[in-house]
Amino acid sequence: MHKNISKIKEFEKPPKVLKKLFSENEIKEFLDLYNNLPTTVHNKKQNVIKKRWLQGYNKKLEDIFCERLKNEIGDFKMDNLKDENGKDIYGLIQESYNPIGLHVDAGFNFDNLIYRQTLIPLSSVGSTVIFKNRFYGGSTNFTLDPKELGKKNLSYGQNNRSSDHIGMFGKKPFDKEAHEKYLKHEKIENLSGLEIEFVYEWELGSMLIFDRTNLHCSSSIIEGKKIGLTTFTKK
Ligand SMILES: [Fe+2]
Repeated sequence: MHKNISKIKEFEKPPKVLKKLFSENEIKEFLDLYNNLPTTVHNKKQNVIKKRWLQGYNKKLEDIFCERLKNEIGDFKMDNLKDENGKDIYGLIQESYNPIGLHVDAGFNFDNLIYRQTLIPLSSVGSTVIFKNRFYGGSTNFTLDPKELGKKNLSYGQNNRSSDHIGMFGKKPFDKEAHEKYLKHEKIENLSGLEIEFVYEWELGSMLIFDRTNLHCSSSIIEGKKIGLTTFTKK
């Protein structure tokens, strides 16, 4: 569990969408950046490509991103992983053909004051579901799958696997309509006690900001592939 939960709670706010934050040209630059970055993970089975936003590939975009984020959330520090040289990574760009399951990106260091995270869509179709429910442990994938839960010996930066969320938020069954509409890739039992706070419909040029403690996942709506850039901050 995080050590400064009361302080983390003081910073918490509802999710927010900034529309028309990036121009068409800037989105194109983000996509060029994505193409130029080296691949970190290519999981052929899950059909996922992950690339770290390493510093130095496009200094102008790094500055634009930090400046516009600071305008909105005030002072922050990056809380992404470090690269091989100990340099901060700016974020993670993920290209996926399948929806990402329920998880929280609360980080790996319990001394940190985790703050907000951002999502910048780099493809136009998709949505992200943010739940009202919050978690104050580390970065965790929430699942009921015994095979997933059996995964130990995780490497640097990999999320913990857990079913601790079951019962944590009460036993109320998850809304059937919302499940059918957005979350068909999740077992409804895995969502028990959860309530949707907000569904972010991806729109190029916009950015979603939400708290690191919010449980979230992709919606099941994908046309072909999705590309999204996420980045994590702390105070
Ligand atoms: Fe996430």
